[in-house]
Amino acid sequence: MFELKGKIALVTGAGQNVGAGVARTLASQGAHVLVNDIVADRAGEVADAIARAGHAAEPLPFDVTDGDAARAAIADWPIDILVNNAGNAGAETMEVKPFAQTDPDEWAGPIEVNLYGVMYCTHAVLPGMIERGWGRVIGVVSGAGTVGVNIGVAAYSAGKGGAAGLLRSVALEVAQTGVTVNSIALGLMSNTGDTGVTAQLERTIPTRRLGTPDDVAALCAYLASEEASWMTAQTIPLAGGSITS
Ligand SMILES: NC(=O)c1ccc[n+]([C@@H]2O[C@H](COP(=O)([O-])OP(=O)(O)OC[C@H]3O[C@@H](n4cnc5c(N)ncnc54)[C@H](O)[C@@H]3O)[C@@H](O)[C@H]2O)c1
Repeated sequence: MFELKGKIALVTGAGQNVGAGVARTLASQGAHVLVNDIVADRAGEVADAIARAGHAAEPLPFDVTDGDAARAAIADWPIDILVNNAGNAGAETMEVKPFAQTDPDEWAGPIEVNLYGVMYCTHAVLPGMIERGWGRVIGVVSGAGTVGVNIGVAAYSAGKGGAAGLLRSVALEVAQTGVTVNSIALGLMSNTGDTGVTAQLERTIPTRRLGTPDDVAALCAYLASEEASWMTAQTIPLAGGSITS
């Protein structure tokens, strides 16, 4: 089950953590994985490690917030599976503070990477998927985009919520073409640095543990598979029980 042999998968922001885990798993299920990251060295290292493990991968570095760059990089590949994973604060670090204390100049960064990045990449792959009659688009979004969170990341919430809404509507537009579109609303992951609230938040997770790249990768492998052809237009919480639907 969930075999991806013969499929070409693009995972954005796959140079580390969640994206790297997703890339490894899709490759081990048989996909030829294009490892994207804005940091070319990271993409190269992850692709090399996958290839050393005996699976098919190569780096495809570009900035997902640069629509022309995304279109140009994707044009050469008949992509079957797109995992929109690049996110967080993009190439920056996330400055955590209440929305009232933010400057409007600070909003574009998280919205560019978490919403526009998803729009550019999805827009670039969809026509080919529709033409070939098969495709899987997956968004790695966040509980911060589907429920309110009081942790000082409101612009990020806007970007993630925007991406989740975008993908649900796109899913319905393409539902009769063999292309499915879903999002994963992640809870707090173990690779998140100590934001001061991480330990406190971990205690509120019903399973009492943070998420791992393998947790996300397993759901991506399912969503990318033939077996998931009836699963579309969903925003699926993956959060150790901390988000209920
Ligand atoms: N870490 C968490 O607790 C958490 C929680 C919920 C959702 N998420 C989401 O899960 C996804 C993965 O999270 P992570 O913690 O593994 O992220 P991370 O920040 O550790 O890694 C993201 C990768 O994306 C790359 N990247 C950033 N901007 C890019 C751009 N413009 N173009 C291409 N690549 C770019 C970075 O260089 C980095 O290698 C993100 O979308 C994040 O918002 C994370």
